[in-house]
Formats: sequence, C-alpha cells, structure tokens
Amino acid sequence: MIFTFTDIEKQIIEKLKIAIRETNFPTYIVGGFVRDRILGRNSKKCDIDIVCVGSGIELAKQMAKVLSPMPKLTVFKRFGTAMLMYKGYELEFVGARRESYRSDSRKPIVEDGTLEDDQNRRDLTINALAISLNDADFGTLLDPFNGMSDLTNKIIKTPLEAGKTFSDDPLRMLRAFRFAAQLGFEIDFQTLNAIAVNKERIGIISQERITTELNKIIESDNAAKTFDLMDKTGLLALIFPELVNLKGVDVVKGIGHKDNFYHTLEVLDNLSKKSDNLWLRWAAILHDIAKPQTKKFEEGNGWTFHGHEVLGVHMTKRIFKKFKLPLTEQLRFVQKMVRMHLRPISLTKENITDSAVRRVLFDAGDDIESLLMLCEADITSKNPNRVKRYLDNYRFVRKRMEEVEEKDQLRNWQPPISGALIMETFNLKPSKEVGIIKDKIREAILDGLIKNDKNIAFEYMVEEAAKLNLHPIQSTKVND
Ligand code: CTP
Repeated sequence: MIFTFTDIEKQIIEKLKIAIRETNFPTYIVGGFVRDRILGRNSKKCDIDIVCVGSGIELAKQMAKVLSPMPKLTVFKRFGTAMLMYKGYELEFVGARRESYRSDSRKPIVEDGTLEDDQNRRDLTINALAISLNDADFGTLLDPFNGMSDLTNKIIKTPLEAGKTFSDDPLRMLRAFRFAAQLGFEIDFQTLNAIAVNKERIGIISQERITTELNKIIESDNAAKTFDLMDKTGLLALIFPELVNLKGVDVVKGIGHKDNFYHTLEVLDNLSKKSDNLWLRWAAILHDIAKPQTKKFEEGNGWTFHGHEVLGVHMTKRIFKKFKLPLTEQLRFVQKMVRMHLRPISLTKENITDSAVRRVLFDAGDDIESLLMLCEADITSKNPNRVKRYLDNYRFVRKRMEEVEEKDQLRNWQPPISGALIMETFNLKPSKEVGIIKDKIREAILDGLIKNDKNIAFEYMVEEAAKLNLHPIQSTKVND
C-alpha cells in the first residue's frame, strides 16, 4: 500500500520510529488519519492517533525528547493518553485498549489490550485501519475488517455486530451518517437497520456532541440526502422532531399542499450547491419550520400558512437553545433570514416601486445576497419551465436592486439625522418624541418622499417636529 504523506508527516514518522525503538512498544497509526491518507482526502485533518501495545504516555514522553525544540506534553493520566503538538500536528498517544460498556452509560470499562482489541472497539471499518510503524513490518496496513474494501466500495459499516457497536456508544449512529455525508458513502443495510433498532439509545448522548455531528452533516455536500436517510431510520425524529413534524400532506376538497419536509430538504439541497455557509444552511432548514402550526384551509384560497415566518423566528430561537447553538449573531442572522424569506417574492411582481425595493435592501443590509440565495433555493417546482421563470424573476429583482442601490447608496445606510442632533435641535431629553421624529425621517427617505441628503432631511425634521409643537431652540447647524 502506498500512502501519500506530506514532508512533515514523513518527518514525524521518522522521529516516531526512533521513539518506538527506545520503548520497544509495538506501535501503529490508526483511525481517521489512515482513512484520509488512503482516500487522498484533502482534509484539514492534522491529528494523528498513535496506538502502542504498552504505555501511550511513556511513548509520548520519548517522542517529546526526540523532537526539537522539545514540545510541551499534555498528559491525561486518568485516560492513559498524552498529546503533543508538532509543526501544526496534534499527536495523540494511547495504549491499545479493550473496552466493555454498561447499558446506562457511554463510559466504558477499559483494560489493556492488543492492537486487535483496539481495532475491535472502533466505530467503523474505515476508521479501524492501522499502519505498522515497527521495524519488522513497517508500513504494512493492518485491516482485520476489510476497511480497505469498504473505502473502495464507499461503504459505511461497523467492524463488529452493528447493534453492539451502536449500543456501546450511540453517538456512533450519528457518526455513521456524518461520514456517509462527508465522504458520499452509502451505509450498509445491516448497519442502517441496527440504527433503526438502537435509535432510542441516542438519549444518553449529550446535546453538544449531537449538535457537533449534526453541523458536520449540514456542512457536507450530502446534507439533504442524509437527513432523509436519518428520517427513514427514525433517528431524526428523536433528535429533531420539529423538522420531522413538517412531514405530510393534508387534503381538503381535493386540494393538497406540498409536503414541507421534502420541500425543506430540497431547499437545503439547492442552497448547498450555492453556499457552504453553515448558518445560511440552517436558515434553509428552518425557513418553513412553523408551517405545521400556522396551516389553515381557507375557502377560496386553499391552504395558507399566514405568519409562519413570524412564528418561525420564535421557533428558531427555541431550536437554537435546545441544540446549544450560539445565541448571538448566528442566531440573529438565521432569524433574519426566516423572518424575511418571503419579502423578495413580493418584488418579483410587476410594477414594483423603488421604495419597495429600497425597503427590502434596507432591512436586509449586508445579508441581501444570502437572502436572495435562500429565495432562489426556495423554488422547488417540479415544472422546469416554472423554475426558470421564477429564477428569471429574481434576476430581474437583482437588477432592480442594483439600480436602486446605485441611486441611493443604501447598503448599511444610517439615517442622516441622529437622535443626538434631534435632541440638541429641540432641546429634548431622550424621549418618545425623539424616536417619532427619527422614524419619520427614515420612513420619508425609504418611501422616496425626500432625498437621502442631510440638509433636506434637516428641513423635513423641522417641519415634522412642528406638527408635534416642537421648534428649534436656536439655529442648530446641520453640520454640527
Ligand atoms: N472513534 C470511535 N468511536 C467514536 C469516536 C471515535 O470508535 N465515538 C475512533 C475512530 O476509530 C476514529 C478515531 O477514534 O477514527 C478518532 O476519532 P475522531 O478524531 O473523533 O474522528 P476521526 O475519524 O479522526 O475523524 P474526524 O477528525 O473527521 O472527526
């Protein structure tokens, strides 16, 4: 087997050989590093898992001595592991282990073991490959579970009986989906079945770890397909019931609506082809999340989902909290996308005024491109002519936006009159009136009633303030 290692990796291996001779422990590289090097995967992966039959901590200490400058060694005595950083690589050392699990916990009982015991306890055949670093068989691939053939045939499969592997550590069910999504592999039938059988065990896994895997699935090229598969095993309903709740079609008087689960997956798939932004992908997942709660059949109108974008904003927050996703700017961005996802549609109608365009531009600010991408991804008609027509409409909207932008320079626009200037001009303390006057000026500019110009806005402010019985105390200058 020929592996393609970088120069630094070759250096690390050479140094490892020296350290190994000192300790005399049979030593191997295992896991994700081996997998990715065989795949020639251009990953950011810079951690190398090193397993020895002996003390991992001892081997790590030897390795630290061999390297120069001598790196800092971090020892996790309780786990019998040690880690050091070298030229951007994280080297993890551990003694080969045998593990057995109790049914109520992810925490295994760990004992010393052979390399084979160590490979047995791993999650997937493609993650159980080892390369020998020992003089006798240096460079040999040790592959007791045919991981190599699964890599070639693009199969995700557990080394031991799948039910046991998943019951031992239920996070592995999600890891199976995650690797399938990242690598574009298929999950072996029995492995998939075992997920369906053991899915409830996911309950013992912390939300943080579930979310980490979920985000990796969402960031992959196969997110929508993977969600569909997760749904078929029943696992998705346990970790993301709100999404599964979008499933189904009601029919009243022969009129049905789209299945919003499959629609959402299609939107996610469309969007994923255009953007790898995790948070925009979350917006695709959540844009219609409140449709089940807002669904109504109205005589004459058919199915409506009035207000789903507003309720969707609240649900987005609840879901972010539950998933322990960041409740700061990422949440605000996704909420903004959910709230605004219908707005550009109104601009595809005929005879749209500049002011309508200006309002969407103003409200979206720098996120306008993301919003348009989401709207374009939201077109999921089966009729290709209709899809083309709708996409053409958005091309027209983009053009109108460019024109209005050029005229008004509205992106990230701040109204020309500040609250401070209003207070100074009319000798006001912070009060309701200041807000009213400020809003009036902003609305007048957005409606195109007055130009986006400081002097004109100042005059307009004086007129509007007079209606509230407020008059300038003295000649405040615009440029003060
Ligand atoms: N592993 C496992 N069960 C888990 C987590 C990890 O058996 N729940 C094993 C696998 O052999 C895996 C190795 O530990 O290859 C290292 O785990 P990790 O670094 O999480 O994954 P990688 O496979 O290295 O891949 P990535 O870095 O992309 O997550």
